[in-house]
Amino acid sequence: MVLSLESWRKGYHISDNTLRLIFKTVNNATNRSMKQFQVKNINSGAIFTVNEGESILTAALRQGVMLPYSCKNGTCGSCKGKLESGEVHYPFHPPLALSREEIGDGSALLCQAEPIENLVIRVREIEAVRDIHVRKMPARVIEKTLLTTDVMRIKMKLPSAQRLQFLAGQYLEILTQDGKRRAFSIASAPQSEDVIELHIRHVEGGGYTGWVFDELKERDILRIEAPLGTFFIRNDRAERPMILMGGGTGIAPLKSMIEDLLALNDKRPLHLFWGVRNHAELYMQQQVQQWAHDHDHIQYTTALLEPGKEDQAGDFTGFVHEAVLQKYPELSGFDIYMSGPPAMVDAGRAAFLENGAEKRRIFFDSFEFGLDVPVRVLAKPH
Ligand code: FES
Repeated sequence: MVLSLESWRKGYHISDNTLRLIFKTVNNATNRSMKQFQVKNINSGAIFTVNEGESILTAALRQGVMLPYSCKNGTCGSCKGKLESGEVHYPFHPPLALSREEIGDGSALLCQAEPIENLVIRVREIEAVRDIHVRKMPARVIEKTLLTTDVMRIKMKLPSAQRLQFLAGQYLEILTQDGKRRAFSIASAPQSEDVIELHIRHVEGGGYTGWVFDELKERDILRIEAPLGTFFIRNDRAERPMILMGGGTGIAPLKSMIEDLLALNDKRPLHLFWGVRNHAELYMQQQVQQWAHDHDHIQYTTALLEPGKEDQAGDFTGFVHEAVLQKYPELSGFDIYMSGPPAMVDAGRAAFLENGAEKRRIFFDSFEFGLDVPVRVLAKPH
């Protein structure tokens, strides 16, 4: 049995993506060998493969080619590109965000278009944060889970017609009703773009984080602005191994980065160092240990600052940047990413520079939980 998407379209009130999934699953089950098409973007030289029944955008993102997009349902026009050669079709509905003239001109909506032969396209790829639109949108709280006595995981779902494109490591701001903004790193990977995860530490005397802990409820709607910041993985020297160093909830953007690298099958060596006060604060220990267990290119070290009697012997006792230096006394060959409180970032930066790290290859996101507001002090590479 061979399914065609068109044959399913009429009369079924299910989303395009669900339909695509059904199509793929059934065709896989019937052992039909899927056709594949090659797509080349002449703007960047990137070449990727699109499976039959897959949109050009989905295939590009799956293979780490960062094409711009927003709604992913054919209405916003963000993913528009030019077809230089080859033909596409639109199995679900006509490309709403394209005029007749644009179609005649060779434009295509890459979130909806599927190739019927090999293609050459021309489209701008996202190379830096300046290429991504910062947008305001509502987000519904769908999960609130206490991870430690003072860290809460919040998961938020975006409206079905909206997607958030961001680079792993970036942060968002929650816009509060009193006109303030609270910044939080995004802990989920860009691949899970309609569910956003945050790790929020409760700050003593901190009104907003207290509100998140005590009053925010599942199903509440928050207003967010995103994505923000320039803390993201650099790919210009992708042969260099990476050190990722996080303090406390500073693990959140590093989690996003690692999940993104894994999703892209990027196997450059990385060593994650997570510094906390004691073992009880390692709130995603199992998950990180699993990464290190499953992937030879990932190493993991914990640094406990004040291990209690009940703590098992940790990997290292002391400041987390000291754990890095103990393992790597010479740092000239590494790209270093740091996320956490300013004191940790400052100490790490000074020590790493003394030990050979290149100033331009140290990237950091330093944030401080002030009286009431997490203030993002710095979010740029130096
Ligand atoms: Fe909105 Fe394609 S992403 S039209």
